[in-house]
Amino acid sequence: MSIDRFPHSAKEESFEFAPGVRAELDGIIEKYPVKRSALIPALQLAQKQNGYITSAVMQHIAGLFDISAMEVWGVVSFYSMLKTHPIGEYHFQLCSNLSCNLLGSGALLRQIEERLGIRAGETRADGKFSLERVECLGACGGAPCVQINMDYFERVTPGMIDEIISALEKGEYVPPAGADEVAPPSAAAGAAVAENAAGNVVENVAADAAEKADG
Ligand code: FES
Repeated sequence: MSIDRFPHSAKEESFEFAPGVRAELDGIIEKYPVKRSALIPALQLAQKQNGYITSAVMQHIAGLFDISAMEVWGVVSFYSMLKTHPIGEYHFQLCSNLSCNLLGSGALLRQIEERLGIRAGETRADGKFSLERVECLGACGGAPCVQINMDYFERVTPGMIDEIISALEKGEYVPPAGADEVAPPSAAAGAAVAENAAGNVVENVAADAAEKADG
């Protein structure tokens, strides 16, 4: 099992918010009675600008909020949405928790890995795609769920994955399909899910074990 550590930065590395981003952050800070409450939005803005959170980012934000870099790191290392390494232009987060697992996230994971040519936890060499298995995305009613950047795709099917990846490969925007926009699973689909559920769980447990062994 790997443990995130405070990222190392070369001494010459520095970070400043771009003027427009800093103005946006100042507007957010004004909404809170306690400045520190805007710490997570500040980190999200920094990640949007910089791609990921570096030690220079944390040191800069610590200075803005009059707290230590280690306090900032305590927040960064807690939230999986905050990245300390480069991710792809399109970051796939595939839920592997119970509801999604029972409804086929294991097969979706293998399909996405095959289509993108990367394993979970990796970023493609061209920087276009990265893939991560995550815990519950809070959309269990729309399982299986995949988050791509900030968009949720619910009741995802292999056909949807093919369409989404083909469109993104061409640089086309793919509007998210929410649970309300997709017909609920049919009785026949439900029966097939029930038949495959045990197999999915076993396969995902095996994938977990392999991932931990690799890490
Ligand atoms: S189990 Fe997948 S969103 Fe909750």
